[in-house]
This record gives sequence, structure tokens and C-alpha cells, in this order.
Amino acid sequence: MLLLALETSCDETSAAIVHDGVIRSSAVSSQIRLHSEYGGVVPELAAREHLRNLIPVTQTALREAALPAEQLDAVAATQGPGLPMALLVGFRSAQALAFSLRKPFIGIHHHEAHLYSPWINHFEKFQRNLSLIVSGGHTMLVLVEGVFKHRVLGATVDDAAGECFDKTGKLMGLAYPAGPEIDRLAEQGNPKAYDFPRPMLNDAGDDFSFSGLKTSVRYFLRDNPAILDNAQSVRDLCASVQSAIVEVLVTKTVRAARRNGVRCVTASGGVTCNRALRAQLAAACRQAGLSLRLAEQKLCTDNAAMIGIVAEQKLRREAKCDYDEDIMPGWQLA
Ligand code: KG4
Ligand code: ZN
Repeated sequence: MLLLALETSCDETSAAIVHDGVIRSSAVSSQIRLHSEYGGVVPELAAREHLRNLIPVTQTALREAALPAEQLDAVAATQGPGLPMALLVGFRSAQALAFSLRKPFIGIHHHEAHLYSPWINHFEKFQRNLSLIVSGGHTMLVLVEGVFKHRVLGATVDDAAGECFDKTGKLMGLAYPAGPEIDRLAEQGNPKAYDFPRPMLNDAGDDFSFSGLKTSVRYFLRDNPAILDNAQSVRDLCASVQSAIVEVLVTKTVRAARRNGVRCVTASGGVTCNRALRAQLAAACRQAGLSLRLAEQKLCTDNAAMIGIVAEQKLRREAKCDYDEDIMPGWQLA
């Protein structure tokens, strides 16, 4: 099956061609520079930028796959959750293209796409797993019993882990999104320099909370403003904050995996790019005798390839033609 997928839920405009479970091409145009001026994503600007970029990005994906649109068997797009106006651009464009080609269209859940992204190009190896989805908008633990048989065990009750990276970074004066910069600065910092809380670490459940950590960094900087004048202290601060976030994510993921008797752990979403998270999750899984599948770095942040792979799997199971479906901005993973 040759399928075109579009993703426009937040600040990346992306198009991809997938063919029988393999990515033939993937084009991503990031709006990060546009939004960093405002310290976060501006929904109206994001939607306008998607409108501007969607056709060139789609043309790039088709050109790289050496494919005329007429050869497509189906079209897919992110249906939700996401910024309403941003979602509308990709969703309605994909529906219109599918309609004009008289081909099936399917809307895909953004988190479901993250959830299965560690299996891209290797779906035949799929096994029962415990999955950590960790991004700018969400942090959740999901028990995946089989393909499309999953159950959310826990999620953040307030800020997502990526949001915690971005907002604490903003307090330190770092540009949006601060996650990658904290990762870089933390490399030469001491993670034990400053002691920050590990929220809900010892909680019996699988939920997360990161707003208290953000607040404690805020009070710490209010009481120690000189920290920001010293480059090494900033690196230590980044390492200490990162260490608190990563410890909570790793400990709770491995604990949930053991409790549910799974042998495999997966992780996906933008924060899975974080090198400390990747390394510490790998070490903890090794120690616990669990196998680990991390989404490839370029597939961790938002992209249409993961939408396409899930769309293909769904269309193989059930023929759909959702021309009349609408976006679902607040759609939660069940
Ligand atoms: O999955 P994603 O592209 O968008 C959402 O669905 O939210 O994730 C973006 C998030 C941002 O919060 C960004 O700061 C974070 O992923 N991120 C990182 C790193 N790279 C991206 N956080 C920590 N370390 C990184 N290397
Ligand atoms: Zn995402």
C-alpha cells in the first residue's frame, strides 16, 4: 500500500510516503525559529505557517519518493489531539486530496502514532510492551498488549515532562524549546550539584507530575539569582533538573513494566531525544532484564512518517473513508 500522510498538529509541517511498512520519504519543516521569538508556540502563527508550507512539503515528499500523487492508494492525517487551527490545515487538505483522487482517507490519533513509532520499519518484530510516551504536550505510560490493543496506565496530572524542560529552561533564559539546549548544557554539568524534588517517584500509581519541580526551580532561582551569571553553574543547574526529570521517568517506566510482567519497554515522543533519558533507560532495562526499543531520534519529534505507518496498519485491518470526519483537538488516548 502506498500512502501519503500529513502531520500539522503543532509546530512541524510534515509529509511522508510510506509503502508496506517502510518509509519511502519524509519531509519535515519546523517552525521552531518562528515561535522561539515568542517563548512558545503561537497557535494562529502555527496555522498560517502550515498553510504556507504544506504544499511544498508534500511536493518534497512525493518527489523524494519519485511518485506522482495519482499512484497513491490512500491518504492519512493527524486528527488530534493538537492545536485546532493547525490540525484543520493538514486534516482538511488530506481529505480534499483523497477525495479528488477517489482514494480512502483516515484520521490518526497523534499519540497512537508516537506509541507505535519505535516499531517503524520493524513492525514484524512487534511484541507486548510497556511504553513511555514523553513529549511537550504529554507524558504517559501505556500497556500495549498487541497492535492497537493498549491501555493508558498513567499520565501527567499537570505539566508534561517536555513542558517542564521548556519552562525551567525559560526561567534560565534559554530559548524555546529549551529541552535540546538543557540536554546539551547538562553534558558538562554535575547532576548532583543541586537537589530538586522527584515528584510522585514513590507514588504507587503510574501518574506523573512535573509542575512542582518547575516551581521549585523558580524559587531556587529567585533565591539564587547569581547562578545565572556563571556558565558552569548553569550547566550544573541543567544537569540537576534533567536528572530529576529523567530519574522519575526511568524509575516509573521500569517499575510499571515489572508490575505488568512485560519483557519489552519502548519510548517515543520528543523528550526521547534526550541523551540522558536514552542512556539511563537503557541501563535500567539492562539491569532489570528487559529489552528496550527507543524510537529513532529523527522519529521522536513530530513527523508524518509515524502517522503514515499507523494509518497503513489500520487500513489493512479495516477499510475506512472518513471524508466526513472532523478534527478532534482534545482527543485523549484511551
Ligand atoms: O513530540 P514533540 O515534537 O511534540 C509534542 O508532541 O509535544 O516533543 C517536543 C518536546 C519539547 O518539549 C522539546 O523541548 C522536547 O520535546 N525535546 C527534548 C529534547 N529534544 C526535544 N527534551 C529534552 N531533551 C532533548 N534532547
Ligand atoms: Zn508529538
